[in-house]
Amino acid sequence: MKNNVSTFAKMKANGEKISMLTAYDYSTAKIMDNCVNGILVGDSLGNVMLGYEDTLSVTMEDMITFGSAVSRACKNAMVVVDMPFMSYEVSVEQAVMNAGRLMKEARANAVKLEGGVEMCDRIKAITNADIPVMAHIGMTPQSVNAFGGFKVQGKSIDGARKMVEDALAVEKAGAFAVVIECAPTELCEYITEKLTIPTIGIGAGNGTDGQILVYQDMLGLFSDYVPKFVKRYELLGDKMVDAFKQYDKEVKNGSFPDKDHSFAIDKEIIDELRKEEK
Ligand code: KIV
Repeated sequence: MKNNVSTFAKMKANGEKISMLTAYDYSTAKIMDNCVNGILVGDSLGNVMLGYEDTLSVTMEDMITFGSAVSRACKNAMVVVDMPFMSYEVSVEQAVMNAGRLMKEARANAVKLEGGVEMCDRIKAITNADIPVMAHIGMTPQSVNAFGGFKVQGKSIDGARKMVEDALAVEKAGAFAVVIECAPTELCEYITEKLTIPTIGIGAGNGTDGQILVYQDMLGLFSDYVPKFVKRYELLGDKMVDAFKQYDKEVKNGSFPDKDHSFAIDKEIIDELRKEEK
């Protein structure tokens, strides 16, 4: 049975940590499916898949293309698909319509949207349409221009109070879980204790109910910038460079393809062809 909102709730109740990673394509999601509890098709695809400097240009069509590829691969992990910038801010109606598209067209199990108190009417309406919502507070990348950069949030007393308020508000509005991004460890631990829904941290220390990382970051596949909170579990980028260079060398020296990677034909047929030519 695929993980779902009840699995996440039970895990929090049992004090079990929840693991999530991002994925954006079928092959990667298939490898990841049995390794973690949930997979997020994040709008971080704008950075790591499409090479944008931020997530603002990501469209609903992008989320549906990448989201449906991941959904087709997953039999175990819960698939959460991000609502991209300006797909839910305009009105409650717009938010419900677009959340519905992600469920119908990307076959998401839940959607994620950024924002706290100010997004609660959207969270409530989407939840009322039986679409599970994962909220996202703290350093919300779609607000990079309003924040004046990618900065740790909640360090001042006002900032910390606002984050607690946001967390309580999204829970009350019906979110089944909340991502907290780039915030001090003790604050996230405090919020986690106050909430009944699971908190999923990224750059939020080890006191949250779960963790999420962008998979290219944790595998060393993305080097444009490496945030402080990223732990690299592998350096696959370096391994890929070695493999690409070895391939280039073998193509140039003629050792690839060898007999094992080629198709044979009866010698007589080739002889016949050559004879016909003469
Ligand atoms: O877009 C994304 O990948 C995210 C996670 C980093 C939480 O929102």
